[in-house]
Amino acid sequence: MSSGNPPPPVDAAVFRTLMGRWSTGVSVVTARDGPLDAGLTVNAFLSVSLTPPSVLVSLTRDADTTPVIERTGLFAVNFLAADQRPLSERFARQVPSAEKFAGLSFHRGSTGVALVDGTLGSVECRVAQRVPTYDHILLVGEVVHEELGRDAPPLLFFRSAYADAEGSDRLHLGTREKR
Ligand SMILES: Cc1cc2nc3c(=O)[nH]c(=O)nc-3n(C[C@H](O)[C@H](O)[C@H](O)COP(=O)(O)O)c2cc1C
Repeated sequence: MSSGNPPPPVDAAVFRTLMGRWSTGVSVVTARDGPLDAGLTVNAFLSVSLTPPSVLVSLTRDADTTPVIERTGLFAVNFLAADQRPLSERFARQVPSAEKFAGLSFHRGSTGVALVDGTLGSVECRVAQRVPTYDHILLVGEVVHEELGRDAPPLLFFRSAYADAEGSDRLHLGTREKR
């Protein structure tokens, strides 16, 4: 049944502000195609199911890492700790991937993808489903290997800025900063 007038169009600026009020963790998604390591900072991540263990990431088509995952069908999600903010900044830059990995401390997972050292942990995934959605691609990954890392405070993202948790019950919001 019609409820009368159509709703007014969504205000893009309000929508962006509102989405910024959804706080998240921060990860670095890595992939590898032969000698090429690639990676980008991602906060559009969620755990999908326990049986089978699966996760979802939303990647922009514009990112250099996206076609690497599309080619290989493999990726890893590395959960950043609060003291790894520089890594988040590094992997959010659109620079050649060699620059992102220069001097980075990492080890190879069971699929050969780079797993960043010093994180809270990593999951290695095989792409189970891909759903092209507007300018992004939603990738559902079945977890093939998991590693627990440090039991440390997480890096958080809120209001387009980094935040970090002190202990487990106090949030310190960073200064406003566009990503
Ligand atoms: C905190 C933060 C979260 C981000 N989350 C995502 C995301 O979920 N998906 C995405 O496609 N890009 C995200 N980005 C942007 C990418 O990290 C950025 O476009 C990066 O330069 C892509 O690198 P690449 O082209 O080398 O793959 C995020 C950036 C920041 C700073």
